[in-house]
Amino acid sequence: MTRTIPDQARLDFALALRRQWAGSVYPRLRAEYDTVLAKNRTRRRGGAAGVIHALPGYESFAWLERGSQKLLWRAVSEAVDHEPPDDAMTAGESTLALDPDLALPDWYTDWDIHLQPGGVWSDDRAARVYELGARLVMLGENDDYEFHRLFAATALPERGFRSIVDLGCGFGKSTFPLKQRFPQADVTGIDLSAPCLRLAVRRANTRGLRIHFRQAGATATGLPSGTADLVTATMLLHELPLRVLPALFAESARLLAPGGALRFLDFQYTGDAFRDLAMTEHGRRNNEPYLAPMMRADLVAMARKAGLHEIRWRAFDERGQGLLDKLEWPVRREWHFPWAVLEAGKPP
Ligand SMILES: C[S@@+](CC[C@H](N)C(=O)[O-])C[C@H]1O[C@@H](n2cnc3c(N)ncnc32)[C@H](O)[C@@H]1O
Repeated sequence: MTRTIPDQARLDFALALRRQWAGSVYPRLRAEYDTVLAKNRTRRRGGAAGVIHALPGYESFAWLERGSQKLLWRAVSEAVDHEPPDDAMTAGESTLALDPDLALPDWYTDWDIHLQPGGVWSDDRAARVYELGARLVMLGENDDYEFHRLFAATALPERGFRSIVDLGCGFGKSTFPLKQRFPQADVTGIDLSAPCLRLAVRRANTRGLRIHFRQAGATATGLPSGTADLVTATMLLHELPLRVLPALFAESARLLAPGGALRFLDFQYTGDAFRDLAMTEHGRRNNEPYLAPMMRADLVAMARKAGLHEIRWRAFDERGQGLLDKLEWPVRREWHFPWAVLEAGKPP
């Protein structure tokens, strides 16, 4: 894809601003925080939040986080608008089952998640904007879905899976690596967004992958019970309100065959007060209202209640080896997400 020079310049600028925020503004705020703590170890009014909010660099850090994200979507939207039409169905073996009667829940449509105007569901352009934006949101480090390949390569058990369901598959970037790693498996991607699924099927066909895409809620997929031997979801948990999460675990448990595995990639708190507050506030500044409640919830208990066993969280290091043994992350100076994988299984 060749872009006009102004479009490419806008994208480069938005990405550079995000990198400046993550690689320079965030560590500077961290240094200010550490200096205050080193000077005064006694408890401060307002705890870590009180200290952080009073730091000289806090206002610009917070403003730039939201401002650069908004600017990014603007640059991405304009670039997509100037691209040639890209809606022709590509021939291939992937299938698409849309549900014209599906009512999208209010909690899904009420928020422009990640500050993307119109969300990922409103029309086909929104899906294309999401596709291009997803590369830049990950600080430009997810070209060709390296991040998702690392998840598929390190966070999944080595078994001869016959049936895999990817919940909240978006335009397929989490689903393609599953099919590539387990080509023998029947792979189904589930999402609420028809525009994302239309894009997913085209992109899967272009890649020569045979994947079934189905429009449904992850809490009511309409797929048969006890048939999946792997259920995955990447970046879905934090997009669901707390009250909906038990139904997600119940549906996953229903889908799994005895002995089947569940792997959900999302976020967990690290125990580092500075980093954890930055993450909570990232959810607020980035229009992700369900993120902090999900991170505070006991999802292990929720999964157990749904009938799953052998449940635990493990850290996931997207800039290193992927899945780690424990819920402990390598220390890095730049902003990066506290990725974690929730593992569970259906008893045999
Ligand atoms: C952040 S995206 C992640 C997409 C993909 N799994 C990935 O890792 O790139 C979350 C996706 O979940 C979908 N989604 C949100 N709530 C859902 C629900 N209740 N059922 C199915 N899909 C849902 C959204 O439409 C969106 O495509």
